[in-house]
Amino acid sequence: MYSKIKAAVVGSINMDIILGMQRVPEVGENVLGTEYSYSCGGKGANQASALAKLGAGTRMIGKVADDTNGRKLIENLESNGIDRSGVSTAGTQTGMAAIILDGDGRNRIVVYEGANAEIDPDEAAEFITDELDLLLVQFETAEEVVTRCVNRAISKGIITVIDCGPAKQFALENMQGATIISPNESETLALTGISPDSEEDVLKASQIIKERSKAEYVVLKLGERGCSIFDGNDLRIMPAYPADVVDTTAAGDCFTAAMALEYKRSGDIYKACDMGNKAGSIAVSRMAAAASMPGVEDLI
Ligand code: RIB
Repeated sequence: MYSKIKAAVVGSINMDIILGMQRVPEVGENVLGTEYSYSCGGKGANQASALAKLGAGTRMIGKVADDTNGRKLIENLESNGIDRSGVSTAGTQTGMAAIILDGDGRNRIVVYEGANAEIDPDEAAEFITDELDLLLVQFETAEEVVTRCVNRAISKGIITVIDCGPAKQFALENMQGATIISPNESETLALTGISPDSEEDVLKASQIIKERSKAEYVVLKLGERGCSIFDGNDLRIMPAYPADVVDTTAAGDCFTAAMALEYKRSGDIYKACDMGNKAGSIAVSRMAAAASMPGVEDLI
């Protein structure tokens, strides 16, 4: 379905340590964990894994250290068929995320940036080449890296999708005219000062993001409420698919990748967001980040 699409992701590559517990401890409290595991993550690498599992030709652009975790993460990219020629190695440690997962599948994440913080904007931008159809970025790398790569992709007419995770203030004005910009609820709050709880607030926040970024579509990821689409005139909310939630980690990454591919295939933002919702509902029903991404067979 998506095998003819050539995509690139500029973003973070992390080793995730996932620690499960019934409830998270209060300050100064000790609780017993129920399980732990290491798994491949990082918002960029998760999105690259999702694109590749859905069949797209995928290039990853990022940085890991020449250490055990870095080598494992590169092996994982390769085993998913991802072109990792844009992944270089830096002197410091590979990025790491500590993910605390409660009994309801809700997470709290602490990220140590490590090598992700050392991506060189010019080097990364060199990998945004003419044959690409699609570029995905997130905010887990330096602002200059994101801005430089997005602007290069826009100038080449490449469909450009900005996932605004993790939540932070970001100068959207410096990258005008992307195809889709997509924050979740906390990211929307960080960017606009508005928590998108009511439909009225979803619209207000979408208008601010549209005005600041001049993106063609503003797609808010609204968790169990689904997502909203704003094109500058109309706002539409598309409900989520039902899911047995096990682990919400990387559900947003999965949504963004599936939405981006379907948008490139069909040119229809509503079909694209429906596909994003469907893919996200599968990701939350599975443990871990990159490993929870669905394949095409799960979506049709
Ligand atoms: O979006 C989920 C990801 O955020 C995790 O894989 C973790 O590495 C953090 O970057």
